[in-house]
Amino acid sequence: MQESIKFFPDTASANAPEVDYLYFFLVAVSVVMTVLIFAAVTIFAIKYRRKSDHEIPKPIEGSNKLEITWSIIPFLIMLVMFGWGAKVFYDAYTPPKNAYNIYVVGKQWMWKVQYPEGQREINELHVPMGRPVRITLASEDVIHSFFIPDFRVKHDVVPGHYDEVWFTATKPGRYHIFCAEYCGTEHSGMIGWVNVMTPTAFENWLAGGGGEGTMAAQGEKLFQQLGCSTCHLLDEQGRCPILRGVYGSQVLLDDGKTVVAGDAYIRESILNPNAKIVAGFHKDVMPTFQGQVTEENLLQLIEYVKSLAVKKTNVAPSPQAGQTKAPARTMGKAPMGKTQ
Ligand code: CUA
Repeated sequence: MQESIKFFPDTASANAPEVDYLYFFLVAVSVVMTVLIFAAVTIFAIKYRRKSDHEIPKPIEGSNKLEITWSIIPFLIMLVMFGWGAKVFYDAYTPPKNAYNIYVVGKQWMWKVQYPEGQREINELHVPMGRPVRITLASEDVIHSFFIPDFRVKHDVVPGHYDEVWFTATKPGRYHIFCAEYCGTEHSGMIGWVNVMTPTAFENWLAGGGGEGTMAAQGEKLFQQLGCSTCHLLDEQGRCPILRGVYGSQVLLDDGKTVVAGDAYIRESILNPNAKIVAGFHKDVMPTFQGQVTEENLLQLIEYVKSLAVKKTNVAPSPQAGQTKAPARTMGKAPMGKTQ
């Protein structure tokens, strides 16, 4: 991709045309309205200007017909903007279920990227063409904004929780990533590149790196190191809930509410264990890990918990699944969270 000053960003994601059509529509409506208003101002100023000092204008009673017309037409045009905009927005923020997950952590002043397979990189993102990619965004420090203009993707990256964007890249090439939220001295240098590769090239690239094992394996290591495994036993009830199969499930809490065990819940439970207590368990049993784990570590731990869920559903007859780990471990005992 040659670096020239472009009037308009490239159109390199499946969502981009949809965003552009809406944008062009908004621009067209604005241009038409601006022209109409300025033309009317000019014409009326000339036509109805005061011609002599003692000219007394004719009183005008107004016209209901005219007023209703100029209310209803803009109203309908704005309803179109609203409906269309809502659709584009909804599509832009609803990743398909089968999307490939990549994790990006913003940190003064770089983008740190992790892939489930274990690769890591900084300020570079590799994605397959033609496949939906979901990016889970986290911030290690302040508010950043993850911006890929050629994909029409932009989202604030707010410390303390996860944000999410997704796209399907449609053209191989290299595309700019920017930080679009002033985040300190080197904000303007917080830039990177997305590399869109053919699916085979991407698979090869994935296979060629990540000496530290998958994110889930890195998470498992942390799980041992931090001592999580002494209370969260895998197959029998320890002092804390069994985590196998938890990811994505409904968890009953001690106040009678339920919560879906997604990324946000797991993150919160690691950093602020007392915030939500599983029914049948107690407060102050688990210490907080705030300050002991980075955002990247948290994502690895989440991938690990997620992998515990995958094994459970995959075990039985599927020949490819769980090549190494003994399937016997998941055979049914250890019911989820004893309740009282
Ligand atoms: Cu990060 Cu601006």
